[in-house]
Amino acid sequence: MSSQYDLIIIGAGAAGLMCAATAAAKGKSTLVLDHANKMAKKVLMSGGGRCNFTNLYVEPDNFISHNPHFCKSALSRYTQWDFITLVDKYQIPYFEKEAGQLFCERSSKDIRDLLLSECQAVGARIQLKCDINKIKDCEDEGFTLETSLGEFHSQHLVIATGGLSIPTMGATGFGYQVAEQYGHSIFETSAGLTPLTFSGKLQSAFSELSGNAFDAVVSCGNQSFTGAVLFTHKGLSGPAILQISNYWEKGKPLEIQFLLGESSEDWLREAIKTRPELKLKNLLSTKLSQSISGFIVSQLGLDKKLKQLDHNEIKKATEFLDCWKVYPDDVEGYRVAEVTLGGVDTSDISSKTFESQKRKNLYFIGEVLDVTGHLGGFNFQWAWASGHAAGESIGER
Ligand code: FDA
Repeated sequence: MSSQYDLIIIGAGAAGLMCAATAAAKGKSTLVLDHANKMAKKVLMSGGGRCNFTNLYVEPDNFISHNPHFCKSALSRYTQWDFITLVDKYQIPYFEKEAGQLFCERSSKDIRDLLLSECQAVGARIQLKCDINKIKDCEDEGFTLETSLGEFHSQHLVIATGGLSIPTMGATGFGYQVAEQYGHSIFETSAGLTPLTFSGKLQSAFSELSGNAFDAVVSCGNQSFTGAVLFTHKGLSGPAILQISNYWEKGKPLEIQFLLGESSEDWLREAIKTRPELKLKNLLSTKLSQSISGFIVSQLGLDKKLKQLDHNEIKKATEFLDCWKVYPDDVEGYRVAEVTLGGVDTSDISSKTFESQKRKNLYFIGEVLDVTGHLGGFNFQWAWASGHAAGESIGER
């Protein structure tokens, strides 16, 4: 294997492979190095095995960053429609699950194979099981990489090593170390899109409800998400909880609204008039599972018939249904988190080319940067867009 390349990319994930295919298509000799034994592991495990590869409604507001403008340029130059065109080129069947989220109909392998085919078609090489020990500067403004497979040299170096979530899938803090080596600052990282854990009596109650789910509006501060909430042995999960976890901070409450799009007071008062003999638990069971209804009634201490509810009890019940306040103990953490919040500060990175402003010919793309998408295919769209932008720029140089 040659040891001399125009471009070396560290990280054979979504962003790195998109960047490799793009730069190699423009004639750059390209090598992708990864320490893992398989490429694109997170693509394979994503979307419950069906990869939610993009979203029909990508907006800068779907991304969290200390610099909210940074993502705009790349997202507008490589859009969801560009990636959908690529998916169509490979005749990969897909469907819209909800709210614009596009999933593979068959399996995530389709997206992994697409990335591999795109790289192979233009001669980008992928070398797995390669540990990178040291990055050294060369006089020609290029880089020498000391690795477990010997030395490699390249004119351009792209860091696409992702975030810290799911270490068993190969995640490391390597990208942050390289950034620091070249004088970049790192915003503190934390687990994002993660279940939330609870302690004490609430945790025991949630554990008993484990597996039960309901649709809700979940809010924290001025952020709200609508979607499923799932009880787990440790606390709460499900799409609405994963989304809000990106905004939750220790000590803050979550506010959960049980009934979507209707006033619980109107609903309860109407039921009291028309079905006074019904127990509150059985009324709740018309909208929620038996177990969740039982839990709510026990929390309220209102195991009663509707006609027995007095004014204060009606108020107590509707307040609970409209705004159940719970205080999570913690996030479940990197072991299960889908993404990493924080990362390489984008203020020293070009939003057009993704080149470092501290070190010529060095680039950072994908999740290693301080850009994190909401749940729903936005993180892959960021990987495609940032990888494409860097690949185009390197290809033209
Ligand atoms: P990514 O993590 O994909 O790739 C980084 C690569 O760098 C890996 O191959 C890794 O082995 C390699 N690497 C790391 N350290 C290294 C080192 N020291 N030396 C060499 N190589 C190194 N997003 C979405 O939009 N839709 C979805 O359906 C899902 N679903 C999902 C499920 C689960 C369980 C997880 C964990 C994540 C998701 N995501 C998601 C998020 C999405 O997977 C993630 O944002 C992208 O994969 C990020 O792409 P990157 O290429 O930046 O990093």
